[in-house]
This record gives sequence, C-alpha cells and structure tokens, in this order.
Amino acid sequence: MKITVNDFYRKKQAAEKITMLTAYDYPTAQMVDEAGIDAILVGDSVSMVVQGIANTLPVTMDEMIYHTKMVARAAKNAMVISDMPYMSYHISVEDALRNAGRFIKEGGAQAVKLEGGREVAGIVAALTRAEIPVMAHIGLTPQAFHRMGGFKVQGRSKEAAERIFEDARILEDAGAFSIVVEAVPAELATQITKSLAIPTIGIGAGVECDGQVLVLHDLLGLFERFLPKFAKRYVNLKELGVRAIQEYKKEVEDGTFPGSEHSFS
Ligand code: KIV
Repeated sequence: MKITVNDFYRKKQAAEKITMLTAYDYPTAQMVDEAGIDAILVGDSVSMVVQGIANTLPVTMDEMIYHTKMVARAAKNAMVISDMPYMSYHISVEDALRNAGRFIKEGGAQAVKLEGGREVAGIVAALTRAEIPVMAHIGLTPQAFHRMGGFKVQGRSKEAAERIFEDARILEDAGAFSIVVEAVPAELATQITKSLAIPTIGIGAGVECDGQVLVLHDLLGLFERFLPKFAKRYVNLKELGVRAIQEYKKEVEDGTFPGSEHSFS
C-alpha cells in the first residue's frame, strides 16, 4: 500500500518512527522500497553523491525530474518526495508553483521538499493551496552553503535556536506536512518535535525526532569523499564492488570467464 501524508500523521500520533532514505535511480529506489522504508527523497544531494559535485547548488530542475521519474517507477509503497533544487523556488511564488507542479505531473512524485525558514512560508502556503504536500527543511540547509560558510551545525546559540524553533512553528502554520531538521543540537530538535503536530524527520538531530533520514550512498558506502558525523555506513558497497570487478578482470585475463555455462553451443 502506498504511504501517504496520512501515514506520516498517524505514525507521529502512534509514536511509530518514520523512515526515509534518499534514492536517485530505479535499482536503488527498488532496494529502498523493498526494504520497507516509508519515504524516498529524491534529494538534491544527487549533485554530490552521483554527479560528483562539491555541493548541491548546480543540479537543475530537468535533472531532478529525470531522477524523480526513475524513482517513481520503482517505488511501489514508499512515498516519493522530490527536492526542489536551488533557484527553483527562490525567484517567485509562480516559479515555485510551476516547478513543484512539474515534479507531481511529470516526475510522478507525491510531495516536494524545500529548504528554509519563515522566508519560504509564503511558498509553502501557495504550494499547499495548489494541493502539493510540502516537506520543509530547517537547520543546516545545504543550499545556503555559501551564506552559512560551509556545512555547519546550526542553532548552537540561544538566539539561533529560538529562531529555528519559531521557523518550525511558522512552517507548520503555513501548511507543511512534515519537516526535516538537519544538524542541530539534539535538545533543540526534541523541543521542536514535542511542540509540532506534524512529524519531524531528523538528520544529525538526535534520536527524539519522529523519523530519520540518511543519504543512501552514505549508508551503503558508495560516497567516500567524506562521511558526516551524523551518518552511519552500514556496508561498504564500494569495496565489495571493486573486489567483484577485480575478480572479473582476472577471470577475463586468465581465460576462466566466460565459462561453458555462459557460452552458446
Ligand atoms: O538532498 C538531500 O539528500 C537532503 C537530505 C539530506 C535531507 O536534503
């Protein structure tokens, strides 16, 4: 059964954790879906972990639609949420509506995610009025990489924490159905989680959030440029892959592949 926004609310009320992972293509989305994860985020992190770029800023709407289509084809149960890329919602509400609408109509997503606090509340409200469920994203917002001076923990000072807390309330009032809280002190994330009716999805925000999200390539060991403190590598697929490819190379070179079982008579 396809997970919907109602399952997000139900799970929060029942104190059941919500699970979310990123995926960017058909085979990885199939793995995530088959594992029973609630939601797949087609994150703009594709820029870093698939395209090999240093940050998330360059990825385009057309590229995000391309990845969303592949994920949507694979996700039988998981809810598919597309990340609105940098500059797809910063210019005007009209622009945001047009771009978010493309994710639903062309990409096959069920919801979109966008970064920012009170400054994007008007956009969250407009998208919600247009029947597009919006996941908000506060704390460390990677699209603000240059303003924040890098990927840094947010909300450490009393003032900064209060602002993030207020932003969460404003985004809930604007109609967000859920909110990603990234790289903030666990205590702040706990306060936000307790004060909102909508679920919080944490990444580097402690265990008290209503759910958790990770970048799939961090979990699988497919991104080795760096591993954020909050990410956990459950397997090293890169290492397994290199070993398998080396074995293939050796077998081709010593003539043991293809064997008769791989050949036609
Ligand atoms: O793009 C992404 O992968 C994200 C998650 C880290 C929440 O925004």
